[in-house]
Amino acid sequence: MLIKLSNINKIFGSGKHKVHALKALSLDIEAGAFTAVSGPSGSGKSTLLNIIGLLDSANSGKYHFDGALINADNEAQINHLRAFDLGFIFQNFNLLPVLTALENVEMSALLSIPNAKERKQQAAYFLTQVGLNDKMSAFPGQLSGGQQQRVSVARALMGQSKLILADEPTANLDSKNTFHLIELMQSLNQKFNTAFLFSTHDERLLGKVNTIIKLLDGEIEHE
Ligand SMILES: Nc1ncnc2c1ncn2[C@@H]1O[C@H](COP(=O)(O)OP(=O)(O)OP(=O)(O)O)[C@@H](O)[C@H]1O
Ligand SMILES: [Mg+2]
Repeated sequence: MLIKLSNINKIFGSGKHKVHALKALSLDIEAGAFTAVSGPSGSGKSTLLNIIGLLDSANSGKYHFDGALINADNEAQINHLRAFDLGFIFQNFNLLPVLTALENVEMSALLSIPNAKERKQQAAYFLTQVGLNDKMSAFPGQLSGGQQQRVSVARALMGQSKLILADEPTANLDSKNTFHLIELMQSLNQKFNTAFLFSTHDERLLGKVNTIIKLLDGEIEHE
């Protein structure tokens, strides 16, 4: 199992501002899965993705990644997983405006691919995979929203990530680019066996996944 969460609780704030965002949540995600997290606003989708992506930690419960128990106090373990095994696609693309598409992709693998030549080759390879072979030297400001999102997909793939996390990756895309992004993620999932986990409200995306995790008030809804 790639991801195993057992009895995860996440609480924000305290006193009357206390929010129990995830309630004794348990789930398994297999290697190579193509999974969506859905649910109404405030149901805990981003919180769940942030915990799985090691951007935040739970108050209690156990998290195993690829068989290893995650210890929130072990910075070396967490930094290693972030650098080597996890990739992120952000809703607002998060590209550095002063770097070209190629440089943005290269930069994400400074740790995981120490050899500069190899890094550049892999960045060019993944940009080609996402259909941007003619845009490698363009700056983000010269790219459309859909193209910028594809740069961020290439960036997430660098270093052969085992899991790519995306919090509402299509929220800032029009329907044509949404459709292209879904197709692209699906084909990359099949080609590289990289697992994808994204949160979405988008019915078009939900129709394409193998598994949907439905959240309601911090709990998984089972049919
Ligand atoms: N940093 C925070 N501080 C306090 N409360 C928070 C924080 N982050 C999230 N929450 C609360 O936790 C609950 C779950 O929030 P979360 O952002 O995970 O929901 P979501 O399903 O991603 O919603 P949306 O669809 O609007 O993005 C909400 O009640 C939210 O207000
Ligand atoms: Mg959210």
